[in-house]
Amino acid sequence: MIKIAPSILTADFTRLGDEIDSIGAADYLHFDVMDGVFVPNISIGLPVLESVRKITDMPLDAHLMITSPARYTARFAETGADIVVFHVEAETGENIRSAINEIHSLGKKAGLSVKPGTPAETLFPYMENLDAALVMTVEPGFGGQKFIAEMLPKISELRRFIDSRGFSCEIEVDGGINIETARQCVGAGADILVVGSGIFEAPDRAARIAELRNEN
Ligand code: DX5
Ligand code: ZN
Repeated sequence: MIKIAPSILTADFTRLGDEIDSIGAADYLHFDVMDGVFVPNISIGLPVLESVRKITDMPLDAHLMITSPARYTARFAETGADIVVFHVEAETGENIRSAINEIHSLGKKAGLSVKPGTPAETLFPYMENLDAALVMTVEPGFGGQKFIAEMLPKISELRRFIDSRGFSCEIEVDGGINIETARQCVGAGADILVVGSGIFEAPDRAARIAELRNEN
């Protein structure tokens, strides 16, 4: 079944508890971390994750858009993230491997993400050990951007690679996901849909989550 991961980047941070309650029907809570260097924006980090962890049992999917993320992957896992996803462009191969192992040794899931300009093959050497491959379908940094349709073949390529080798890695897509682009991504092989404005700007968020899952 398709999993929905609302991104709280678009939530009202003054009422974060209520905002999280409003998307309780979803599968994961997507938590976007930006450092103002890897991406041209700064968002939220460990103290907010710690607070969020206390008020929800939803699995937390931390998406680290930061430079040299291996410095922080264990901290995010220890602070309450269930899935720690970081960018392949931001680390050396050696650090990527050790960070994946460290996340797993803490009992958490590990994911790697690719920016729109990074080819799918960049992830292939790590795929056997990954729980999630996150394809950015916009340039990372901001919510509310337009879906880049040229990313669909990248999703299909990852799907073929994973299936042909019998790996368990799930494919996550992030950026510009609405009802129409959700269908396209699922058709190309995506398992998890990260959705920010497409859920938080919907008049009925629970209904939108069901609609994105194609349940009604
Ligand atoms: C962008 C973030 C996304 C963002 C998605 O860099 O990684 O998770 O919140 O927002 P929408 O769904 O509005 O494109
Ligand atoms: Zn994200």
